[in-house]
Amino acid sequence: MRKLLVAGVAVTALVAVVALAPPRSTSAQQPAPPAPPDSVVAPRLTVADSAALKGPKQPIFFRHDIHSGQFKMQCQYCHYSVGVTSEPGIPTMQTCMGCHLAIGGSDSSHRAEIKKLRDAWREKRPVQWVRIHTLAKHAHFPHMRHVKAMGPNACGTCHGDVARMPQVFKVNNINNMGFCISCHVERNVNRDCTACHY
Ligand code: HEC
Ligand code: HEC
Ligand code: HEC
Ligand code: HEC
Ligand code: HEC
Repeated sequence: MRKLLVAGVAVTALVAVVALAPPRSTSAQQPAPPAPPDSVVAPRLTVADSAALKGPKQPIFFRHDIHSGQFKMQCQYCHYSVGVTSEPGIPTMQTCMGCHLAIGGSDSSHRAEIKKLRDAWREKRPVQWVRIHTLAKHAHFPHMRHVKAMGPNACGTCHGDVARMPQVFKVNNINNMGFCISCHVERNVNRDCTACHY
C-alpha cells in the first residue's frame, strides 16, 4: 500500500509537470516544438464518446490509452498474476486507489469518471466490469505458459495494441479454435485435444 501511495505521489508530480507545461502555441512566430517521438498523448474524449468506440461500454470509462499509453504503466502493474496463473484477473479497487485517493483528474470528464470510482470505493461496491474475452467452459487457456514462452510483452499478439485503446475491444476471435491451433502449428506446440479440452 505504501509503495502504491508513493507511485501515486510520483504520478501526481508527473501530472503536475504535464499540466504546467506551456500550452501549444498557435502563433506563426512561435511554432510549437515538435513532440518527442515516444510521447503518446491520449486523445480528449468524454464518456459520451465511449458509445461510438469499439468494444463494450464499461461502468467507468477507464482508459488503457491514458494509463498504459500516456503514463506508460506496465500491464503487469494491474494484471499482476498474468505470468503465474491462467487468469490475469482484473485489478481490485485497492490497486486503483493507491493512486486515485490522490489523483482526482485534470479535466471535468476525468474528474467525473474518477468520482464514480471513489464513490464505489467509499460504498465498498466493486466495479462490475464487463468481461470481453471469455472461452467456453470446455476450453482452457493458461496465460502463464504463454507469457513465459512469449515474454511479458506478448499481450499484443492476442489482444492487439491495448495501450492505444480508449476502450478495450476484441482484436482476435479467441472463440475460434483455429486461432489457437494455427499458432501452435507454427510454433510446433502441443495440439492434443486434451491439452486444451479437459
Ligand atoms: C491501471 C490498471 C491497468 C493497467 C496498467 C492495464 N490494465 Fe488492462 N484492464 C484494467 C481494467 C480495470 C480492466 C477492465 C475494464 C476494461 O475492460 O477496460 C482491464 C481490461 C483489460 C482487458 C480486457 C479483459 C477482458 O474482459 O477480456 C485486456 C485484454 C487488458 N486489460 C489488457 C491489458 C494490457 C495488454 C495492458 C498493458 C498494455 C493493460 N491491460 C494494462 C486495468 C489495467
Ligand atoms: C496467446 C494469446 C494470449 C496472450 C499472449 C495473452 N492473452 Fe490475455 N487472454 C487470452 C484469452 C484466450 C483469454 C480468455 C481466457 C478465458 O476465458 O479463459 C484472455 C483473457 C484475458 C483477460 C481477461 C481475463 C479475466 O480474468 O477477466 C485479461 C485481463 C488478459 N487476457 C490480459 C492479458 C495480458 C495483460 C497479457 C500479456 C501479459 C495477455 N493477456 C496475453 C489470450 C491471450
Ligand atoms: C499509478 C497510478 C494510477 C493507478 C494505479 C490508476 N490510475 Fe487511473 N489515472 C492515473 C492518472 C495519472 C490519470 C490521469 C489523470 C488526469 O490527467 O486527469 C488517471 C486517470 C483515470 C481516469 C480518468 C481518465 C480515464 O481513464 O477515463 C479514470 C476513470 C481512472 N484513472 C480510473 C482508474 C481505475 C479504475 C484504476 C484501477 C483499475 C486506476 N485508474 C488506476 C493514475 C493511475
Ligand atoms: C501466438 C501464438 C499462440 C496462440 C495464438 C495460442 N497459443 Fe497456446 N501456446 C503457445 C506457445 C508458444 C506455447 C508453449 C508454451 C510452453 O512451451 O510452455 C503454448 C502452450 C499452450 C498450452 C500448454 C500446452 C502443453 O504443452 O501442455 C495450452 C493448453 C495452450 N497453449 C492453449 C491455447 C489456447 C486454448 C489458445 C487459444 C485460445 C492458444 N493456446 C493460443 C502459443 C500460442
Ligand atoms: C490449442 C488449444 C486447442 C486444442 C489443441 C484443441 N482445441 Fe478444440 N477448441 C479450442 C478453443 C479455444 C475452442 C473454442 C472455445 C469457445 O467456443 O470459446 C475449441 C472448440 C472446440 C469444439 C467446439 C466446436 C467448435 O469448433 O468451436 C470442439 C468440438 C473441439 N474444440 C474439439 C477439439 C478436438 C477434437 C481437438 C483435438 C483434435 C481439439 N478440439 C483441440 C482449443 C483447442
